[in-house]
Amino acid sequence: MVGAIESKIDIMVIGGGGREHALCWKLAQSPLSKTIYCAPGNGGTALDERITNVNLQVSDFDGIAEFALKNSVDFIVIGPDNPLADGIVDFLEAKGLKVFGPTKEAAKLEWSKAHSKTFMQQNDIPTARFEVSHDFESAEKFVRSNVWARVIKADGLALGKGVFVCDSADEAVDALGIIFKDGKFGDAGNTVVIEEKLIGDELSLLILVDGKNVLPLSACQDHKRRYDGDKGPNTGGMGAYSPVRLYDTHKDAIKKHLLDPIEKSLADGKLSFKGMLFAGILVGRTESEEPTTQLTPYVLEFNARFGDPETQALMPRLKSDLLPLLWACTTGTLAAEKVEWQNDASVCVVASAENYPETSSKGKAITVEDLGDRAFLFHAGTQLDGDVLKTNGGRVLCVTALGETIEKARENAYKAIKKVSFDDMACRSDIALREVGRCLST
Ligand code: AMP
Ligand code: GLY
Repeated sequence: MVGAIESKIDIMVIGGGGREHALCWKLAQSPLSKTIYCAPGNGGTALDERITNVNLQVSDFDGIAEFALKNSVDFIVIGPDNPLADGIVDFLEAKGLKVFGPTKEAAKLEWSKAHSKTFMQQNDIPTARFEVSHDFESAEKFVRSNVWARVIKADGLALGKGVFVCDSADEAVDALGIIFKDGKFGDAGNTVVIEEKLIGDELSLLILVDGKNVLPLSACQDHKRRYDGDKGPNTGGMGAYSPVRLYDTHKDAIKKHLLDPIEKSLADGKLSFKGMLFAGILVGRTESEEPTTQLTPYVLEFNARFGDPETQALMPRLKSDLLPLLWACTTGTLAAEKVEWQNDASVCVVASAENYPETSSKGKAITVEDLGDRAFLFHAGTQLDGDVLKTNGGRVLCVTALGETIEKARENAYKAIKKVSFDDMACRSDIALREVGRCLST
């Protein structure tokens, strides 16, 4: 099949988190989709009669290929970062399967921060000043002799936990010790990126890419820290919201400094990428600049996949059919696509285990009451044990609610999350609160 989708197709989504549940939920609404498989899926995808869980792990490339070929799956959508870094797209494409996602080499923009920073530098995409180091001694020397070098990042995939934003050289050297000497991140810490500290506000921009063209989705903002007020350890994400006022005020600059250079690098053959390119953006200035300096949209990092929980915040707002958009990324026909959004804002609040990210929750019964028609429940760490829904992870559920304003969406989300419960359930109480303040003050 080339070009537009002509008849209903069977789809397989790879992954088992909240992001994959939200993708399956949206794809199931497409008039062009037939069966939706999810491997391995979770309790939420098991409960949805439009979705069929397949008991295959994301690392089981042979099993996934075999299942897809045997069941004539027409299209495979990859959710998480690890299989992309391990080359799942190359593997499945070599078997003749059609896949949404970048090849291993293209996904290097996510799995190597050193590669990603070099790409940005070479393609005029603003990013924090940086240095790459491969051993503790030279990294320590660099940190001690450069007053700007205060952010330390493990090069490889580290579940969002390999980044240390430090206030002093000593703190930065401690971070280098954790990475190089303690080996906390394994091979992902064989190389570090040392960066200048930036100050400003962040947003996530998910950009569909078809090898030639880019199509950004509506901007969103996640909340990575575990506790209110952005305190505590980094997590996979405790909540998200969309749209983001900050994006509207810097839209032109983001086009000029990010989207245009990406398209140019695709055209020049410096980048070969199909799938989702997710930019973590900080609109701000460097630590050494005066607070009056004009704000710049700096790219903090690239991911090569949909964000989690950004996807859970975005899918209920997406008016367009998701399936032709993803399909167009693999057929190089994105230029003909448009993406439409509901006017409503959305807020997604994650219900996690009390001690997440240190520990997760397993085997606790979950109760869910009717959430009403403005709220949606996406499962993350859940499983179906017979007929009983039970916890099975650190982040357990994501509740997304819509509202005419971000304030209303927030109110709806917190009202809805009261309808779900399990032992030791916890959530942040300030998701999207800052955005509400911004919107009320303008
Ligand atoms: P990353 O995984 O590179 O996006 O970094 C994770 C988080 O660390 C970001 O969301 C920021 O909050 C913070 N961070 C990363 N790089 C910098 C930097 N250069 N300056 C300040 N904060 C940063
Ligand atoms: N929410 C950040 C991520 O998906 O990496």
